[in-house]
Order: sequence, then structure tokens, then C-alpha cells
Amino acid sequence: MARFARSARFDRLATGRRMIALLALASMAAGCAPSVVRYPMDTLSPKSDLGDWVTSLFWQVTVWDSIVLAVVVVTFLLAIFVFSTREGDEEPPSTEHGGVALELAWTVIPAFILLAITWPTVKTIVRTQPEHWPANTLTVRVVARQWWWEFQYPTLGVNVADEFHIPINRPIHFELISEDVIHSFFMPALGGKRDVIPGQENQMTLIAYVPGNYYGQCAEFCGDSHANMRFRFVVDKREDFDAWVKHQLEGPVKPTSKEYTYNFKGPDLTHFGSRTTLAGSMLDNTPANLAQWIRDPRAVKPGANMPTLGLRGDQLNDLVAYLESLK
Ligand code: CUA
Repeated sequence: MARFARSARFDRLATGRRMIALLALASMAAGCAPSVVRYPMDTLSPKSDLGDWVTSLFWQVTVWDSIVLAVVVVTFLLAIFVFSTREGDEEPPSTEHGGVALELAWTVIPAFILLAITWPTVKTIVRTQPEHWPANTLTVRVVARQWWWEFQYPTLGVNVADEFHIPINRPIHFELISEDVIHSFFMPALGGKRDVIPGQENQMTLIAYVPGNYYGQCAEFCGDSHANMRFRFVVDKREDFDAWVKHQLEGPVKPTSKEYTYNFKGPDLTHFGSRTTLAGSMLDNTPANLAQWIRDPRAVKPGANMPTLGLRGDQLNDLVAYLESLK
């Protein structure tokens, strides 16, 4: 019987060890994964100068935090297992009068650690809020609304929604404005997150340096469809960006068959068919998803202001076909 009990315990221990090894392996594998593909909202693999500064600050603070944690845990364990009094021990000496050296140490060392955290923090804050930017800076005006994003390029005459492009290795200056409530413009891969506040223009400047497709998200609760207020952005090589701008400046395609007129306030749809997503980047831009979105917008995005047009059959199919043709 005793033997059986020991072997069961041994089994449990072995299973525990295997679980720990598995967890360690899984976390190692996760760390090696190409982050943007598997973790689109990862902030720890920055692809811009701004992201580099913020991530570097994060690691500096984390190192200090870890040192403090290690000292506290070791002291705590020593106090419990080594320096605790046991039954029959003599009374410990009185601690009514503390040691001067000890008190000095626990005042000076934390003060030094706070300073070591404050200095790079203040430096990073100043660095990420430049007052002036180089002459070749591209301005992107970001307009937040419940619950979609509009991106305007005042110097290029381009105006898009849900999805925008920026060139690599060129300073981008984002002007952030809101037309209704407080939102937050968050591009994890570029390290930028800043509140977008009605009546106040906020700024963000950065240089992206890795081409690719990235995800963004509103990061401030702003009503029913806050979680659905997403966007995508593409960091382009110089020539790809120029080609994109040229394409955006071309006029809209004229409908070839029957004509319908729909009027509502919403995003510019001139090149709608060339976008990869729709409905605040909630759905991939496919004819089936577009039809679903037009048929019942609130089923996709609760609270959406997009009107239900009541289209069915041919009318709906014609509109979907036309919008998708707007490449
Ligand atoms: Cu906009 Cu949350």
C-alpha cells in the first residue's frame, strides 16, 4: 500500500515536471514566432523610431522592477526560513531603535532607483513630443468618429477610410482629431498610442522602417462598437507609396448599368474596391461580406450610424458589384 502511494506521488511529480517543461517550450516558441503574423497587436517588436524608444524604455524599467522584485522576494524568504524565531528560542533583541546604516540604505537605494527610472522616462517623453519636424515630413490627418477612422493627406489631396498607407524612412506627422467623443489612435507595431480628443488636436511623429501590412485599433472606450473601431495600415517602399497615391488621385469609376442614388454621410468610397477590409476593418472586403454589411450594418457593428438601406435581390447585387468595381 505504502509503495503504491509513493508511486502515485512520483507520477504526479513527473506529470508536473512535464507540464512545466511543455509550458517553458511553448513560451520559448512564442518568443521566436514572426510577431506581426501571429501577434498582430504585439508592441514588443517595434518597426519605427518611436516604437524603438518606447520599447527600450519599457525594458529599462522592467530590469529595475525585476531587481526590486528579486531583492524583496529573497529578503522575504530569508526572513521566513532562516531568521525566524522558533519555539524555545530566546526573545529577539528590541528593534525600538533602528540602525542608522540600515535606514540610510533603504532611503538612498530606492531614491537612486526612482531616479534611474525617471531620467530615461522624461527623456523619452520629450523625445516623442517634438515641436518641429524636418521639411520632408508627410502630414496625415487622422479623424476619429464613432466608429471608424478617416485618413486625410492635406498635401497630396488624398482622403481614405479604414486603411491607410505611409512610406518608409520618411517622417510622418499625424494630426489627431475627433468629431465626437474621446478615442485613442493605437498602432502597436509602430509603438504609437495617443488619445484623440474632441476640441483638441494631438500629434504624433514617427519614421517607420519596415514595409508590411499592420493592424491598428481604437484603444479608448468610445461606445457600443469601440472594439470594432479598427484599421489597417501599410508601410510601403517609396515607389509603392507613390503608385498608391497616384491611384487614389484617379477619379471614380462611373456605373455602367442602372443608376441609383444613395445619400448619407460616411467615408469616401472612390476607391472602395481596392481596400482589403470594410466596416472599420471588421470584415475582409469580399462581395459576400459587403452584401452582409449593407443588408444589416448593425449586425456587424452594433450601434453603427450607417443606415439600413433596405436593399434586396438585384438592387443589392448591383450596388455590391459597383462598389467592388471601384478599384
Ligand atoms: Cu473609438 Cu474606442
